[in-house]
Amino acid sequence: MHFIIFKVNLDKNNIPKHVAIIMDGNGRWAKRQGKPRVYGHKKGVDSVKKAVEYAGEVGIEYLTLYAFSTENWNRPQEEVNALMQLLVSTLNAQIESLNENNVKLHTIGDIGSLPEDCIRELNEAKQTTANNTGLNLVLALSYSAKWEIIEAVKQIAKEVKDDQLTIDEINDTVISNHLSTKGIPDPELLIRTSGEMRISNFLLWQLAYSELYFTPKLWPEFDKADFEQALIDYQNRERRFGMISEQINK
Ligand code: FPP
Repeated sequence: MHFIIFKVNLDKNNIPKHVAIIMDGNGRWAKRQGKPRVYGHKKGVDSVKKAVEYAGEVGIEYLTLYAFSTENWNRPQEEVNALMQLLVSTLNAQIESLNENNVKLHTIGDIGSLPEDCIRELNEAKQTTANNTGLNLVLALSYSAKWEIIEAVKQIAKEVKDDQLTIDEINDTVISNHLSTKGIPDPELLIRTSGEMRISNFLLWQLAYSELYFTPKLWPEFDKADFEQALIDYQNRERRFGMISEQINK
């Protein structure tokens, strides 16, 4: 007889090092309340705080949040401005708390394309938290995976042209080291809220072997219990990396 044992509690010894989240559904959540979309983004910030806290509590080393995509620039100017303002005010209000909680802030994406006050606030937060040794919080801002891969290809091509690298030397590691996530392990788990089942141009290279978890909860509703549920679901998966079950369970 073969029993499948489904774990219902979190195993503290099998916490993923890196969790990436596509925070989706702020607009729909606001609409349901009869409120403007920006209200949903504001509520979304509370979920960001909870997720950061929870990640620190369970010992996740890297938490990457998709806060603004390259494609998001195409939203109505009013919403783009509101999101940028929200980023500035949230960083400003949270710098101390991030520091007290030993969180180190990183960014990935085309940061130079953000408004100046955003860049300034981000730089300050990164500097202030640079020596922290707890959770690494990675904000993806003006980020898209295709943009990142194009940038990497350009850089690699330049190094080949300048005789710093040969074509045969280009491998998995060389490509990883030219991405904005250089030095960060690939995420074991990707969470997307709001029921959409897409990757939406997020971490295409880094998600090659990640477990994908989709929840119908909208981002402003996503709390610590939902995060824990995602981790438990991850812990019940068998990660085979192309091998067969018997090779994994030796
Ligand atoms: C997706 O919901 C969410 C965003 C595009 C922005 C996420 C930003 C925040 C939660 C706030 C700022 C972040 C930080 C890190 C301070 P949506 O607008 O696509 O919702 P919809 O699909 O229902 O329209």
